[in-house]
Amino acid sequence: MKPSRTAAVILAAGKGTRMKSRWPKVMHRLAGRPMIGHVVESLRPLRCDPVIAVIAPGMEDVAKAVAPAAVAYQRKQLGTGHAVTAAASRLRGIKGDLLVLYGDTPFISTATLQAMLRRRRAGDDPAIVVLGMRPTDPGEYGRLVLGRDGGLEAIVEARDATSDERAIGLCNSGVMALDAPRVLPLLKALRNDNAKGEYYLTDLVGLARAQGWRAAIVEAPAEELVGVNSRADLAAAEALLQARLRRRAMAQGATLIDPASVFFSADTRLGRDVVIGPNVVFGPGVAVGDNVEIRAFCHIEGARIGAGAVVGPFARLRPGAVLGTGAHVGNFVEVKNARLAAGAKANHLTYLGDAEIGAAANIGAGTITANYDGFRKSRTRIGAGVSVGSNSVLVAPVTVGKGAIIGAGSVVTETVPADALVLARGRQTNLKGRARKFRAERTRGLKSKSKPKRG
Ligand code: UD1
Ligand code: CA
Repeated sequence: MKPSRTAAVILAAGKGTRMKSRWPKVMHRLAGRPMIGHVVESLRPLRCDPVIAVIAPGMEDVAKAVAPAAVAYQRKQLGTGHAVTAAASRLRGIKGDLLVLYGDTPFISTATLQAMLRRRRAGDDPAIVVLGMRPTDPGEYGRLVLGRDGGLEAIVEARDATSDERAIGLCNSGVMALDAPRVLPLLKALRNDNAKGEYYLTDLVGLARAQGWRAAIVEAPAEELVGVNSRADLAAAEALLQARLRRRAMAQGATLIDPASVFFSADTRLGRDVVIGPNVVFGPGVAVGDNVEIRAFCHIEGARIGAGAVVGPFARLRPGAVLGTGAHVGNFVEVKNARLAAGAKANHLTYLGDAEIGAAANIGAGTITANYDGFRKSRTRIGAGVSVGSNSVLVAPVTVGKGAIIGAGSVVTETVPADALVLARGRQTNLKGRARKFRAERTRGLKSKSKPKRG
């Protein structure tokens, strides 16, 4: 990788107390991806090196979520300034700029980060660039206090602010771009004599000004900079993101009949002329080919859907589902770790798990691939052009040769040769006239019971 002028630190060690969760806040998902994963994605095009996430001991799942970014441990959560200090040993000697981002501010865009770096490198050479915003309710956000020259003078946390300062509408989003060689040494000068008793990163601005260096502001829309602190914030952020993903899907050529009821994952990929009905949910890892129709009420995750396929209504595609070109998966069909080759159809009431379904095979209503014997999973292989009759069970491991026909209600436990007709069920017995006799006996019996008693 090309050496980069920019390093990045993502702060994520905070307890996230207001989430009332046993999981780290930044692991809560938005559009199927951990919050911090969104920050990592926005950073990616900038090719920062190093990228370091500051986490608390015990947050190993965060380390996994940000890999290959490195992690630094902050043992006690003594504030945002203290958190950057925790990464300082890994930042020693860096010559360029440092971006500081928060793991709980997930929608920051690449373009905004680029704008901040451009501002940092502008002719007046500000030591710090702070990303500002004007939220409708400034609430607990830090306020950006401007000097007489219109430059940034200080950041005051809401709890430490005077009423005049609280009236300022321009707020700190949390993101900063710093000239590392000048500003990092100031971390040592941070004090915790404030309302929260924490070492505030935001105090770097005042310290830099005291050195006579400039501090500047770049503004971005508040919508991009929402911080997530509670479950209510999380839900609001999800709503914003879903709205954006729906707009993107339509802009790229998909029809959403009722956009508000379709839920995407951040990584959902859609081809051209995909039509998506109401109430469809896409979990992570879904790729949809051109001209696919996904009818109402489907739940799809970890699946690849080939061009021209038709899915639903009421279908469930689970991880490892792969549908070939023009395949059909209909109502109340569940597909897991199974491939349906081109033109294969499973239109009703079926479970296909750990299975290969050949081209143009037809799977009848109520078919089950029994893939689990209570100990391990086995595969079912169904050849091209096979017709599986309704309500059949294929007990895996089992192979059905191409062109075979399986009679309805069969329980298939042994290999079926190609083009065989299989009947694996009890034989039918017809007892002539027995129904009539049965009815006559029953009617007599009922009459004798209902005779009135004498005496
Ligand atoms: C911070 C800013 C505030 C800004 C707001 C924007 C400070 C002092 N305040 O406040 O000006 O308006 O963000 O959302 O910076 N973290 C650590 N270690 C710690 C403390 C925090 O890693 O010891 C991490 C958290 O995990 C989180 C981020 O830093 O990702 C921000 O911390 P948080 O406590 O949420 O700061 P705010 O009070 O929201
Ligand atoms: Ca916060």
